Amino acid sequence: MKEKLDQLFNSAIEQLKKVDSISKFEELRVRYLGKKSELSNILKNMKNLSNEEKISTGKIINEIKKNIELKFSETFESIKNFEIERKLKEEIIDITLPGKKIAIGHKNPIQIVLDEIKEIFLNMGFVIEEGPDIDTEYYNFEALNILKDHPARSEQDTFYIDDDYVLRTHTSTIQIRTMENKKPPIKIIAPGRVYRSDELDATHSPIFCQMEGLVVDKDIRMSHLKSTLNKFIKSMFGSEIKTKFRAHHFPFTEPSAEMDVSCFACKGSGCSVCKNSGYIEILGCGMVHPDVLRRCDVDPEEYSGFAFGFGIDRMVMLKYGIEDIRLLYESDLKFLSQF
Ligand code: PHE
Repeated sequence: MKEKLDQLFNSAIEQLKKVDSISKFEELRVRYLGKKSELSNILKNMKNLSNEEKISTGKIINEIKKNIELKFSETFESIKNFEIERKLKEEIIDITLPGKKIAIGHKNPIQIVLDEIKEIFLNMGFVIEEGPDIDTEYYNFEALNILKDHPARSEQDTFYIDDDYVLRTHTSTIQIRTMENKKPPIKIIAPGRVYRSDELDATHSPIFCQMEGLVVDKDIRMSHLKSTLNKFIKSMFGSEIKTKFRAHHFPFTEPSAEMDVSCFACKGSGCSVCKNSGYIEILGCGMVHPDVLRRCDVDPEEYSGFAFGFGIDRMVMLKYGIEDIRLLYESDLKFLSQF
């Protein structure tokens, strides 16, 4: 018996010497100390021995078992340290390697300019209103005095969803929705995407972005319109920019005007950008037509208002000297990352 146990001890020591990983160690632990190990078997068979034999053999077995356990716990300590060392070596971080660049997206120039424009108007006390891209013919045309056979319908030809619904051609729809829902004083800007069935070319896109403004209160006059727009343009493009208002016609404003600004490229002396006129057309505006007010239950005897509208894309193109509107919608990173 003693011999057998010595053999067991020696073979355990031999095996333990070769262990080089936690998993191999576990395997040996089960083999030599587990429930099905030889040592357990010997212990189980002790019940067949006489009492005297039990005492003498039991002593030897316990001695050997203690020694084996001791060896195992010593080996565990060293193998644990060995594993840590190995992990540290394997997972070494080279802090001298250059870092990976993370590509961060950035704003499209339309959004950059839109944010700038919003800021200017918010500082003047305007609030932002929004409306649906798909709207009824009524909000897009009729409420704004553009009846079925009005020539402005073909100028602003759009995509019809069905007989009643269209993709809005301008954000003037929001004028009507706001006046229906709120009592004056009203002072809003309404930015948004608009749609027209125009062929795509360097200056036209079937989708573009617009901003409409509307002010309604007692005693609102053309002078308010002019001073507001002058302040906006100067904040946007610089105080040296000159503006002028030219009489025009819109069905929903009376009187109506277009506002021109002195050419950014030639400062007014005449060049190809301004077609030698020294000025560039920039927006439409006017005093809200009394019929439009009446339709929204605003009494034109008590209240008056002004409205204006412009293409944000056009502002972007003028501000950055971009000659092709398509660039703004193509998501070409080479182009976009310049802003
Ligand atoms: N809605 C007009 C357009 O899209 C612009 C405009 C708005 C003109 C408000 C006058 C007043 O062309």
